[in-house]
Amino acid sequence: MKKAWKWLEIVLAAFMLLALVPQKTVAAKDTQTTKITDTYLKKVKNKGELVMGTSPDFPPYEFVKNINGKSKVVGMDIEVGQKIAHDLGVKLVVRTMDFDSLLVALETGKIDMVISGMTATPKRAQSVDFSTAYYRSGQDLLIRKADKDKYHDFRSFKGKAIGAQTGSLQATLIKEQAKQTKLKTMDKDSDLILALKTNKFDAVAVDTATAAAFAKNTDGIMAIPSGLKITSDGSAVAFHKGATSLVKAANKSIAEIKKKDLINKVYLPKAGKYLAGGKTKKEAKASNSMWAYKDFFIAGVGYTLFISAISVIFGFLLGAILALMRLSHNEIAHSIATAYIEFVRGTPLMVQLLFIYFGLGLVVNIPALLSGIIAVSLNSAAYVAEVIRSGINSIATGQTEASRSLGLSRSATMRYVIMPQAMKNIWPALGNEFVSLIKESSIVSVIGVKDLIYQSRIVQADTYRGVMPLVITMILYFIITFGLSSLMKVFERKMNHD
Ligand code: ARG
Repeated sequence: MKKAWKWLEIVLAAFMLLALVPQKTVAAKDTQTTKITDTYLKKVKNKGELVMGTSPDFPPYEFVKNINGKSKVVGMDIEVGQKIAHDLGVKLVVRTMDFDSLLVALETGKIDMVISGMTATPKRAQSVDFSTAYYRSGQDLLIRKADKDKYHDFRSFKGKAIGAQTGSLQATLIKEQAKQTKLKTMDKDSDLILALKTNKFDAVAVDTATAAAFAKNTDGIMAIPSGLKITSDGSAVAFHKGATSLVKAANKSIAEIKKKDLINKVYLPKAGKYLAGGKTKKEAKASNSMWAYKDFFIAGVGYTLFISAISVIFGFLLGAILALMRLSHNEIAHSIATAYIEFVRGTPLMVQLLFIYFGLGLVVNIPALLSGIIAVSLNSAAYVAEVIRSGINSIATGQTEASRSLGLSRSATMRYVIMPQAMKNIWPALGNEFVSLIKESSIVSVIGVKDLIYQSRIVQADTYRGVMPLVITMILYFIITFGLSSLMKVFERKMNHD
């Protein structure tokens, strides 16, 4: 009991330590930006690039297009970003993520600005600085065409469910103004549309321009006015609080965009062309076939295999070290390993990943792919450590005693007597761990790593087909994991022979 308390203390202490690090840095950064003159513009110019964050599920603002087998983010927001970057004489870099991650990414310096159809609301303006609005749009509801006579605006949905994107203005509006309806949120607008089509709820709330784009390009749905009221001038570019130099630069570009009416004359027509694909109906159907997206799936498998392979190696090495530390007689090594293992096993991989990417990102900027690999490896190590430890413990103490009395050193005993036998015992459990690592690596898609899951979501959004991409993804994962378990079995048989 006493021991258990000791562990709890250690784990809690470690946790508090971790929690302290980023907070301190935020505070330091904040005072820095307010006291010293703002260096945001200078930094962008030095880098030579302006990084824009966006959630490309929002036509005509931003969406992903399959152009000759390559995915490309297009839309009016990309044009706006391009214009700002061009006027600054730097390159535009587009980083994609879920809408509700954008402001976190901005706060933690992963991106320089958000352009994502984001409405400049007073509440958001408390935590970010907005440019002037570049586009004004109303609020609509998408419904199934079959329900045309049933619904007129949000008031007709008493007791019914309306979907909205997580973290969006629409989610807030429905919560505040449509109290008699149930709000259902999802991370991606494309998922909301699929859910609407499959009767998961009866309407989806989106900005008018987006509602029109979805209605035009999806069979069986139509847009109606929502009746929801908003107080805002429209969509604007969001910058880090205090980044006045960048806001000013953006405002200058936006003023020019407005003066020349570039949105209506150039950006929207261009987006419309991408949306329609400039294709006949037959061509559109052909490009909707999964085969047209084979390169997406291949790229996804590549990323998934890459992340998994590296994480398996590092997870195993670190796991072995942790297991030995936990078994060692050295109190400190033992305590560190135990605390690490308990802590990592007791917190979700998703949170660990976000912590590494966004939290540690305050101190060192770790790219998404590397963050993903680090998170998956560190997580797997804790599980591998326990597997190895149980393997070592499964070898009778008589073995150690015998080999020691034959004159083998402690490490030689471990290496030549215990480990080979332990490995044989834990092989199946290790195989299990590697298989789950492959599956769990799918979590990296939330920070925009282009793994298999990420790609299948893009294909879903681009084709408006919900099920087929999932089926293909499932099959591909199965082929990978089954391949790995078969490989593990070959080695298992080999070990049993000798
Ligand atoms: N205008 C809405 C908002 O500010 C929705 C924006 C959603 N944008 C997107 N790229 N999914 O919350």
